[in-house]
Amino acid sequence: MNEQTNIQQLIRDLAKEKNAVIMAHYYQRPEVQEVADFIGDSLALAQQAAKTDADIIVLCGVHFMAETAKILCPGKKVLIPDADAGCSLADSCKAADLRAWKKAHPGYQVISYVNTSADVKALTDIVVTSSNALKIVQSIPANQPILFGPDQNLGRYINQMTGREMTLWDGACHVHSRFSVEALITMKKEHPDAPVLAHPECKQAILTLADVIGSTQALLNYVKKHTDTRKFIIATETGVLHEMQKACPEATFLPVPPEVTEGVGCACNECEYMRMVTLDKLYNCLVNETPEVIVNPEIAAKAILPIQKMLALS
Ligand code: 13P
Ligand code: SF4
Repeated sequence: MNEQTNIQQLIRDLAKEKNAVIMAHYYQRPEVQEVADFIGDSLALAQQAAKTDADIIVLCGVHFMAETAKILCPGKKVLIPDADAGCSLADSCKAADLRAWKKAHPGYQVISYVNTSADVKALTDIVVTSSNALKIVQSIPANQPILFGPDQNLGRYINQMTGREMTLWDGACHVHSRFSVEALITMKKEHPDAPVLAHPECKQAILTLADVIGSTQALLNYVKKHTDTRKFIIATETGVLHEMQKACPEATFLPVPPEVTEGVGCACNECEYMRMVTLDKLYNCLVNETPEVIVNPEIAAKAILPIQKMLALS
């Protein structure tokens, strides 16, 4: 047994002993995904949290995901292996700024992406994820103006698909908005038979070049349905390639590289926050039952309402 298999076994044993469920987002390190009871996108993680009967939820993902699980399960212990695993997109939208934005737009409904803090969700009418944003916006009466935040790329895409009156927050995911348009054009020329699969958090120019636009789960589902395809060009965080490769072992997955300004950022398309969770941290988190995610009960009581609306409409 090598060191990695050994710690994975210890994690599994501890989870069983403590009746803990380990949930992991598709952008987690492959070795963390392998040890999880459940792997999913943001929507599936929330749905799974809402129905688990485990005593402890260990959320291998970023902070807003663990916070959403805690809001849905106030009586359970929710742990995150690294409390500093944040999200630049969620951080771009502070509750005070959202409050001012709402005040400046009376009569608008506030639709917030799940990538937001509990404080922001508490000021929101309906939460959405990239899996259900289109369906939820379509379910809102056509004459209802909408404030959509914080991801402007997802918002613009939904706006184009629905033609609704939507005012967008000026935020973006630093991973998805960095894919290089130039590199994608070259890749399409070199691999004309490869469909381009892109997440709606990507900027407009990338989405225009894509054959399939969808949430992490939707892109994975597309790969699972096209097992005869030999090559795919992927414009999303590369953590999902682990499940894609398992679904299509013969296929080649070509990740679109990010634009790299000299000396700024890395040349990979991994979310550094997602990668903060390691097997060692997961093991320690289960042993010590910390870091625990706590949400102010008054905020949680408000934030649960738009999350429940989302789950009902999904
Ligand atoms: P989904 O999991 O909804 O595809 O969102 C992608 C993402 O960036 C999560 O942080
Ligand atoms: Fe946030 Fe983007 Fe990382 Fe998702 S991939 S956690 S949206 S920074």
